[in-house]
Amino acid sequence: MPSLSRHAIIIGNSDGIGLHSTRRLLDRGWKITGVSRRASPVVHASYQHHVLDVSDCAYVEKLHAILGQESVDTCIYCAGIGGPLDPKDLRGDVHVFEVNLMGALRTAEVIVPAMVAAGRGHLVVLSSQADVLVVASAPSYAASKAAMSSYFEGLGLALRPHGVAISNLRLGFVDTKMARARVRPFMYTLDQAVDVVEKVLCKRPLRMTRPLSIAPFVRLLAWISRWRVLLARGPACPRA
Ligand SMILES: NC(=O)c1ccc[n+]([C@@H]2O[C@H](COP(=O)([O-])OP(=O)(O)OC[C@H]3O[C@@H](n4cnc5c(N)ncnc54)[C@H](OP(=O)(O)O)[C@@H]3O)[C@@H](O)[C@H]2O)c1
Repeated sequence: MPSLSRHAIIIGNSDGIGLHSTRRLLDRGWKITGVSRRASPVVHASYQHHVLDVSDCAYVEKLHAILGQESVDTCIYCAGIGGPLDPKDLRGDVHVFEVNLMGALRTAEVIVPAMVAAGRGHLVVLSSQADVLVVASAPSYAASKAAMSSYFEGLGLALRPHGVAISNLRLGFVDTKMARARVRPFMYTLDQAVDVVEKVLCKRPLRMTRPLSIAPFVRLLAWISRWRVLLARGPACPRA
């Protein structure tokens, strides 16, 4: 683990990968600041929690206030949601983009300029191998992750000369409440997922995809979904 990066802010850490990463890094001696809508179950001398919604219009201002009191050199953005499409009400899809994409962008808006000014820092975003898919039953999740991967990998290239690292972690299935598909091949345990988070913190790659065993399966699904799009015909025009 790099010795400079000992204070991390983890956004979306009341549950799942964020919570498990929080516990692991505290065990490793890191100081952690957590952010989520719900209170945290973590009680630790080196831990403090802020109850905050990344889709709240005051999020940027509140995050500035948190970071005004303490300097962090690592940020892990774990907040994420997904859900099935309701064609009669697209508000759920808008919210998925607000949390998965805009929440990450607003976090970067606050964190990145401070890291650039300091000439160091590491922002890790949790995307997904689903970022290459077009999914009719839940289009917002894959699309928000596609935008997230593309934006943060571009930002990472731009920030290299400034000494700031961005890592886009593209996971497959991980055993949390988010993994709701009926079939979940090569699903990681939370321990395996956090092993990868630690590897990302140590090696600081621009992109890490895990597990690699599911990648060919995802590429096949992506290929099938592209062909479905190319071959799709719209419904017949209504008669005048
Ligand atoms: N599990 C998988 O199979 C899998 C696979 C690939 C990628 N990922 C990605 O990994 C990340 C973490 O997923 P997970 O499986 O750990 O999910 P999870 O168990 O559902 O945890 C999601 C976390 O995000 C927080 N969150 C949700 N909405 C929020 C909001 N508006 N403001 C602040 N925090 C919010 C939740 O806390 P509160 O509800 O308390 O706010 C929770 O702590 C997500 O970005 C997900 O897309 C997961």
